[in-house]
Amino acid sequence: MTTKSMDKIMALAKRRGFIYQASEIYGGINGFWDYGPLGTELKRHLREAWWQDMVLLPCRGALGPNGEPVRIVALDSCIIQHPKVWEASGHVGGFNDPMIDCRETKARYRYDHLMVFVPANDDPQGKPFFCYLPDSPSEAKQKKKAEKAFGAIKSVALRDIPKDLWPRVIGPDAEKPGSLTEPRAFNLMFKTYVGATATDDDVAYLRPETAQGIFVQFKNVLDTTRVKVPFGIAQTGKAFRNEVNPRNFTFRSREFELMEVEFFCHESEAHDWYRFWRDQRLAWWSSLGLAGHNLQLRPHERDELAHYARDGAGTSDIEYRFPFTAPGFGELEGVAHRSSFDLAQHQKFAKTNLEYFDSERGELLPNGSRRGEKYLPHVVEPAAGLDRGVLAVLCEAYTEDASRPSPELLRIHPRLAPVKAAVFPLVNKDGMPEKSEKLHRELVQRFWRYGLIEHDPKQSIGKRYARMDEAGCPYCFTIDGETASTDTVTVRDRDTGEQQRIAIASAGDWLAERLGQV
Ligand code: GAP
Repeated sequence: MTTKSMDKIMALAKRRGFIYQASEIYGGINGFWDYGPLGTELKRHLREAWWQDMVLLPCRGALGPNGEPVRIVALDSCIIQHPKVWEASGHVGGFNDPMIDCRETKARYRYDHLMVFVPANDDPQGKPFFCYLPDSPSEAKQKKKAEKAFGAIKSVALRDIPKDLWPRVIGPDAEKPGSLTEPRAFNLMFKTYVGATATDDDVAYLRPETAQGIFVQFKNVLDTTRVKVPFGIAQTGKAFRNEVNPRNFTFRSREFELMEVEFFCHESEAHDWYRFWRDQRLAWWSSLGLAGHNLQLRPHERDELAHYARDGAGTSDIEYRFPFTAPGFGELEGVAHRSSFDLAQHQKFAKTNLEYFDSERGELLPNGSRRGEKYLPHVVEPAAGLDRGVLAVLCEAYTEDASRPSPELLRIHPRLAPVKAAVFPLVNKDGMPEKSEKLHRELVQRFWRYGLIEHDPKQSIGKRYARMDEAGCPYCFTIDGETASTDTVTVRDRDTGEQQRIAIASAGDWLAERLGQV
């Protein structure tokens, strides 16, 4: 897929009410996106699929690495927490991406994102080097200039260019060399003030992840429920990061939604749980239709690991090949072994004991019971981005097929499709509208919990199929001339375009079987 298709995906997403630019009538606000009627439903279905498969029936009933049921309980914590939470978590001190400004264009870039085209062979001293931001228009522009200057070129990270050569570097969108500043720390957390007096003592932060809300309620959950380690706490909700370069549609936004589980286990079992979650989460995304070759699991290199994950079993990203990253991949979900870092930090900063007493561990006593063991559990964290998930689903579903009534369609997995089915009268006369309204009513009453069922009596049948294909609706029922005499309807499959005739009385059961729901 090319970048051009990304433009088409964005155009379709806007045209059909999936995703709009936030505050669009005011010119928009960079890094913020709103979901329209179809997008809101798609996002809700993805969130609910996650909730069903992580909280209500974790891993669809699969057993954990030691043959135990997987237990996960729910939490809904505040966006604003005590500011000390973010000191303990390392976000106040460490949630810093070194940034570089361009004095000429006033643009700001993440230091670790910038690359430079340099000569592949001998350096003809004195000529400029060409810096670019991968996957942005600057890449092609700078490549052309570099090839003209040097012939054979290669690409290196800006951080690998010695500082004494920086005066030769032309910024991604600049004309003259030497305009890039030294890298500086930039905190990604949004600041706000709690209460009426906006003094430094009232500073608070919008959460950059939901995970910390889970860690700070770990003790309460243990004390008020009957869960035992190993178990997980799940939460979905908004997170905010003042990203320097929001880009690629919703991929890097400043406000987005996370779906996170903090899974607590004994240190000796952390490797097993890490491998378990990594494999489960990869399988989950593919179960929702993200095709094999566009989805991959990538273990982090040692130098990529976050501060909390350095001593553990590791971190793996589940990545999707987005049109704007192709042929490379972009992160969809991270599965990290965070060791006991967070609980240890909160224990220290809040001066509270967060240890768990495990009565099933420790020395075996003569009476057959165990002495018990106190420990800080280790944590394995599958953390997925809901908005990135929606984007991946849209990109995967987007299909161009000039031979169809809709040259563009969305092959969204039926579990996620915003519109589950549509009902049409072939023509708006001969008793057909009444029959289709009746079938529509019956299907709505049976399936309203699962998603939208649409009724559309207007326009040519081809146009109506096309509209539904674009909306990702998997099945269309049509009442036609034969319905009155045979009590049958046709049902059309979005993906194949094929139609079959079924008894009108069996339409509900037919749909339930396809949707996997009653
Ligand atoms: N608690 C761990 C954590 O927050 P993360 O890798 O920073 O980990 C988890 O974020 C997921 O959130 C990512 O895999 C990605 O899908 C999504 N995500 C992160 N930053 C994002 C952004 N600026 N816009 C949209 N989604 C983002």
